Amino acid sequence: MNNSKGKTVSEKQSRTSAVCHALRPFGTSIFTEMTALAQRSGALNLSQGFPDFEGPIDIRRTAAEAILRGPNQYVSSIGIAPLRQAIADKMSRFYNVTVDPNTQVTVTAGATEALAATLLGLLNPGDEVILLEPCYDAYPPIIARAGARAVYVSMSVPDFDLDTSALARAFNARTKAIVINNPHNPSGKVFTERELAIIADLCASHNVVAIGDEVYEHILYDGRKHTTLLAVPGLEDRSIVISSTAKTFSTTGWKIGYGVASPDLSQAVRMSHQFLTFCTPGALQEAMAGAIGMADAYYEDLTASYTAKRQKLLSALDEMGLTVLWPKGTYYASIDINDLGFEDDLEMCRFLATQVGVAAVPASFFWKDRSNGKNLVRLCFCKTDDTIDAAIERLKRWKR
Ligand SMILES: Cc1ncc(COP(=O)(O)O)c(C=O)c1O
Repeated sequence: MNNSKGKTVSEKQSRTSAVCHALRPFGTSIFTEMTALAQRSGALNLSQGFPDFEGPIDIRRTAAEAILRGPNQYVSSIGIAPLRQAIADKMSRFYNVTVDPNTQVTVTAGATEALAATLLGLLNPGDEVILLEPCYDAYPPIIARAGARAVYVSMSVPDFDLDTSALARAFNARTKAIVINNPHNPSGKVFTERELAIIADLCASHNVVAIGDEVYEHILYDGRKHTTLLAVPGLEDRSIVISSTAKTFSTTGWKIGYGVASPDLSQAVRMSHQFLTFCTPGALQEAMAGAIGMADAYYEDLTASYTAKRQKLLSALDEMGLTVLWPKGTYYASIDINDLGFEDDLEMCRFLATQVGVAAVPASFFWKDRSNGKNLVRLCFCKTDDTIDAAIERLKRWKR
């Protein structure tokens, strides 16, 4: 076995890397890289999408009390009953969608695990999954690990309109699912009723499951209201809606997410979830059960607060002469760097972090073919006003 002669390339590679073939092409997530660069260079971190402020004190107090009171043991694999009930109530309260908390709601370790449980629970080798790019970086590696193939349909800069003809061409007999991230990271796009209706028609005629990644469902601007896939006519029984309490309650580190779907589709999610994590921390679930049920004022304040932060950062960027793509939802905005003299978005982000003191994310990492997004840099504004003001000051100094 010491003699490497006669071995195939993959056998030789397997001696140099323990990583399975499916995951090798993906490398380290750009968010990890940019956050590490921000820490090394002392930059303000407007790269990875987590708040630099704490979520509501009452939620944290409930979790702390639950930990002290105990028990702190495994809870039901599908999630504690009060949280599943709160999620079902939320679907009815915000979207007029009725779901059975016992058979249609599954609590997971964040939306990320819900995505993994969904894709691993649904896909067979050789299946295809349609991704609308730019897309969140977790989807392709999970699809690859399931032995399935991602088929990309591009939404083009700056409007990110869905090319519905290209979308129709992407559907075929092998298509098992499509992932729709709405509101959309990184573009801030909110899918129109017409786009959702076209997606629903295509899913129905090709017997395809629509997977909704709706983690930014409560962060929309200018009076917009979210449409969940489960409320789109034709998708009621063929969609799995994934969301998370991370963004809505500024607790990204807690990783409490969930999937909502018909009993049959929920079974696919639960089947893999039980072997991925089995369950998520009971105390945090208890706190989130209370959080989701908070009065309308909480949700209105969240919108008002992000509307003000969006205005603060983006109008300052506009005034600096930068070309800003204002989001319709989410807490991300992109700037078009075409005229700024950088080779690409990665070079600019390295420059921003190390020379300007503001970390951002090169948006090209959301595309399969990175050249499609190399003119965009994504900044997040889920930060305190002090952080945003300091970032504006640094960017102004650079622009001057
Ligand atoms: C589109 C999208 N989906 C999923 C996630 C992950 O959510 P969670 O932290 O609940 O796993 C994120 C986090 O940034 C995201 O932007």
